[in-house]
Amino acid sequence: MKYRRKRKPPPPPVTRDSPLKLTLGRYSYVSPPTLHAPFYADVQVGNYTSIAGDVVVLSDTTQHACVQHPECVTTFPFYENHGHAFVHHVPPAEAKPVIIGSDVWIGYRALIVGSITIGHGAIVGAGAVVAKDVPPYAVVVGNPAQAIRYRFDQETIEILLATAWWDWPEEQVLASLPALENISNFLTHLVDMRNAAVENTAREVEQPGSSRGS
Ligand SMILES: CC(C)(COP(=O)(O)OP(=O)(O)OC[C@H]1O[C@@H](n2cnc3c(N)ncnc32)[C@H](O)[C@@H]1OP(=O)(O)O)[C@@H](O)C(=O)NCCC(=O)NCCS
Repeated sequence: MKYRRKRKPPPPPVTRDSPLKLTLGRYSYVSPPTLHAPFYADVQVGNYTSIAGDVVVLSDTTQHACVQHPECVTTFPFYENHGHAFVHHVPPAEAKPVIIGSDVWIGYRALIVGSITIGHGAIVGAGAVVAKDVPPYAVVVGNPAQAIRYRFDQETIEILLATAWWDWPEEQVLASLPALENISNFLTHLVDMRNAAVENTAREVEQPGSSRGS
């Protein structure tokens, strides 16, 4: 029996049914079985973020036109089923991405509705239904998801956000791992790093080239 070589099909156009466009930052991961995005979604994830299994993302593209256009009589997507364009819809290419920051932990079976932003350091509880932006370092649970606490006080959160340790070079993150286990140690570590940098600069001014190793 002869097999004919099949021609490679052209890439499919981007539609509401196109697969998930997922951008994962450094070491960020999705646990098995998978992240579900039943319709097209552009999900942009920062560094060192953990996404548990069976998290579902419904971005703005999944909203039927009646949501953006309350004047619409029907909730039914006639534009898809009959090519009838009298109701507007958000073209997937123009849809806003879902932004998930760095050092975020999203619990099992959380449901993200809409193109929202989940701030750095936030925790989304298992099964939470998140339809609004989650502030950095908030812990949100339930339906609709509400903050039950913040992981640190406001001053510490501002320091962490300004530091953005998740964007440091990998060697620097690895060297800081012991300090990352305890917020007091980490704040001390930041002061030590700043002092070392100031000393290096002073030495550099006194003896140019000395900090490059002798
Ligand atoms: C969000 C989470 C981290 C909160 O942990 P915590 O800070 O220790 O919170 P607590 O257990 O002290 O609970 C605080 C309150 O929130 C409620 N709560 C906690 N998690 C909840 C959740 N996922 N959904 C709804 N309510 C929740 C508790 O019942 C408690 O309510 P109460 O104050 O009325 O008694 C945790 O409960 C969670 O959901 N973790 C995700 C686990 C997971 O999905 N792992 C996947 C493998 S990585």
